[in-house]
Formats: sequence, structure tokens, C-alpha cells
Amino acid sequence: MTQTLYSENDLKKVVAELAAAIAADSCGRKLLLLGLLKGCQPFLADLCRELSRHQLVLEVEYLQVSSYVGTASSGQVTISQVLPDSLWPGCDVIVVDDIFDTGLTLKSVVAHLCEKGAEKVRTCVLLRKEGCSRVEMEPDYCGAVIPDAFIVGYGLDYNEQYRELPYIKILAEDEQN
Ligand code: IMP
Ligand code: MG
Repeated sequence: MTQTLYSENDLKKVVAELAAAIAADSCGRKLLLLGLLKGCQPFLADLCRELSRHQLVLEVEYLQVSSYVGTASSGQVTISQVLPDSLWPGCDVIVVDDIFDTGLTLKSVVAHLCEKGAEKVRTCVLLRKEGCSRVEMEPDYCGAVIPDAFIVGYGLDYNEQYRELPYIKILAEDEQN
């Protein structure tokens, strides 16, 4: 049975709150939103639209990152794009991802950016799974905390399916194969 966790309306509210929090902390600074593909896509697009209501200078870039196989983290984070150094001077970077589960992805990406010379890096996730973290860091901005379940929709996939759903649901066992 399908269990919707966040409807389109719920998501709109959560994203608007995140944009307001980011804007309040970023006055006058140029922001580089760095989305982690592919899961960040609908969230990042909506976040940009919400941020456009606030007076900010924004740039958007992407990194391709992967760690999940089926419904479990492999624990191995692969970053398959290297950004040019010229992106960093004068920018506050905000790494944007769909969900913080073990936290290994965000931790690896932040370390990678610091190695590349980024001066200030913050992190923003739509959701965080309760009790799953395997790292000491916490995301700077988090839309909501959810129970430990495998979810899909709004960019989140199961073996590349379900990203197109405009809402987020828990993937039922009979939908996993
Ligand atoms: P972490 O490295 O364990 O924090 O996992 C982060 C990445 O795993 C996210 O960017 C997602 O791509 C993926 N992920 C974690 N939990 C889920 C889920 O419930 N559904 C779909 N993808 C997930
Ligand atoms: Mg991801």
C-alpha cells in the first residue's frame, strides 16, 4: 500500500522555509548552490525559485555523486565530476542534496570542496533520516526529519525509477524487486 509522506503542498512549504532560512543567513553574499545529481533536481529547482523572492546573487552548479545500490548505501561514495577552481573565490557554497541518510555523501563532498579551496561550505538537505547517521557532521539546513524508511519521489529514486513523482512516498515492499 502506498504511504504518502509529503504531498506537493507539504513540499512547497518545507522548501519555502528552507529558502527563508538560507536567505536570512546569507545577506549580501554571493551564493553558489551545488546540487548533487541526480536526486537534487526538483528540490534544487524549487529552492532556486523560492530564493528568487529574496535579494540574493545566485549561481548553480552540479556534481554527480553516487553511493546507493537498490535500497541500501554501499558506503562507497563516488564523485564523478571535478569542478574548475575558478568557481570558488568570493562564493559561499551551499551543497544541496535530497536526503541525509548515513551522511557519508555530504561528508565526502564537503571534504572534496575544501580540498579544492572552497572558503565557506554549508549543506542543505530536504530530509534527514532519523538515527541513520554514520558521521559527526549535521546538515546546516534540513527541511524535515523522517523515520528510517526507503522513500521515493521528488527526485529520489529506486533503481532510477520514481524520480518524477511530485510527492514523496514510502516504497512498499511489493514495489521492490
Ligand atoms: P548517505 O550518503 O547515506 O547520506 O546517502 C545520501 C544519498 O543516498 C542521497 O543523496 C540519496 O541519493 C540516497 N538515498 C538515501 N536514502 C534514500 C531513500 O530513502 N530513497 C532514495 N535514495 C536515498
Ligand atoms: Mg543522491
